[in-house]
Amino acid sequence: MSHWLISGGSALAGTVSVQGSKNAALPILAATLLIEEPIELKNCPVIRDTENMLRILRSLGCTVKREADALVVDSRTANRFVLPTALSGELRSSIFLLGSVLSRFGAADAPYPGGCEIGNRPIDLHLRGLRALNASITEEGGRIRCAGSLTGATVDLGYPSVGATENIMLAACRAAGTTTIRNAACEPEIVDLQNFLCACGFRVQGAGTPTVVIDGVKQGHGTSYRIMPDRIVTGTYLLLGAITGGDVTVTGAQAETVNPLLMKLSECGCLVTARDGSVRVKAPKRPRAVGFTETRPYPGFPTDLQPQLFALLSVAEGTSVVTENVFESRFRHAQELRKMGAENRILDRTAIITGVEKLHGACVTAHDLRGGAALALAGLFAEGETQILHAERIERGYERMDSVIALLGGTVTRKEESIGE
Ligand code: EPZ
Repeated sequence: MSHWLISGGSALAGTVSVQGSKNAALPILAATLLIEEPIELKNCPVIRDTENMLRILRSLGCTVKREADALVVDSRTANRFVLPTALSGELRSSIFLLGSVLSRFGAADAPYPGGCEIGNRPIDLHLRGLRALNASITEEGGRIRCAGSLTGATVDLGYPSVGATENIMLAACRAAGTTTIRNAACEPEIVDLQNFLCACGFRVQGAGTPTVVIDGVKQGHGTSYRIMPDRIVTGTYLLLGAITGGDVTVTGAQAETVNPLLMKLSECGCLVTARDGSVRVKAPKRPRAVGFTETRPYPGFPTDLQPQLFALLSVAEGTSVVTENVFESRFRHAQELRKMGAENRILDRTAIITGVEKLHGACVTAHDLRGGAALALAGLFAEGETQILHAERIERGYERMDSVIALLGGTVTRKEESIGE
């Protein structure tokens, strides 16, 4: 377990570049199993989740090596379709591998991914989609076993699930015939996956709209691909400036993918400018409250920035209301913020946040990735020192966030603790 010690109270200012997207890299790494030639990936973030995905690919027989700033994955040596229980259990998004492993080997065997801190995370839409493509699937003993020669089909998703959309896209690339996914998720990461798949010679179109069409082909080919910038990390780093009354510029970003947050920051009284891949936030001494925010699938306000916005609104002038429509229990950061002096009430999926002028340092716990990032934001605002336990959960998705904070003038000390200490 690692924990962070944060000293708050100073305005953060400066320029930082943003990492590659975790949520684009994970399905793209899963997709490498579809191509039996070397794949070079640039801008793949070095974080716990991608490192775990690489471990899983190696356990399936792939060779993986990092060369300078590129990652080379070669799945020609892949020879196993059973996903390792421990690694896949820790990495929920290993479920994306079902589609690509099943397509490559005609079989796949994976542990049932458990729930997590933000909800029970069912996979019914994934399994229904794979069954529609002629996979036979049994679920027993905590494992999912798939088999079959995949054929194209029309899949209507009951909910625009990001992961289910990606899983079905991967399963369909080498299936016999055409697959149409309706009510598909429209997130930018799905467009990035489509761009990667097309760069490998697969025939995918419509990503970014509710209808994605894949014409199955026999084989893909190797390519070199640069992963898109991480829009959630972009938003989180802009909030470092917003919550501390600072002035932060994020470079290498795609402003249009974080537009819902940029609009909120403007509503809070921040001066937001975006030009040529850079986004700058110049914050007021104290942000104004924002009446009502609700998370929605893209292009709505992203659930992955809800905890971080929650932290900002906790110190805003006035009362804000936030509704979490995507996950059923994504407010665990609220109680941790209350330990720091925040005032909020949770009524099922809605939070009533009464902004306070001050927060004080406290010992708090990162229950999940984005909730942990929210606590880091609050710690940088608070007077005194904040200790964040289980900061390794933040490190699942943020590449050296402690160094980024230091670069902007913040003080974070990272400590590793062996189990039992
Ligand atoms: C992806 O998770 C992201 N993870 C999540 O980011 C993100 O919060 C989420 O999409 C929504 O944008 C990755 O891309 C690795 P969903 P995913 O399937 O695919 C329900 C982060 O912090 N659902 O769109 O799991 C589900 O319970 C992470 O980076 C079903 O009911 O999200 C949830 O309520 C957190 N049945 C809703 O859909 C299913 O079969 C959205 O889930 C699948 C999902």
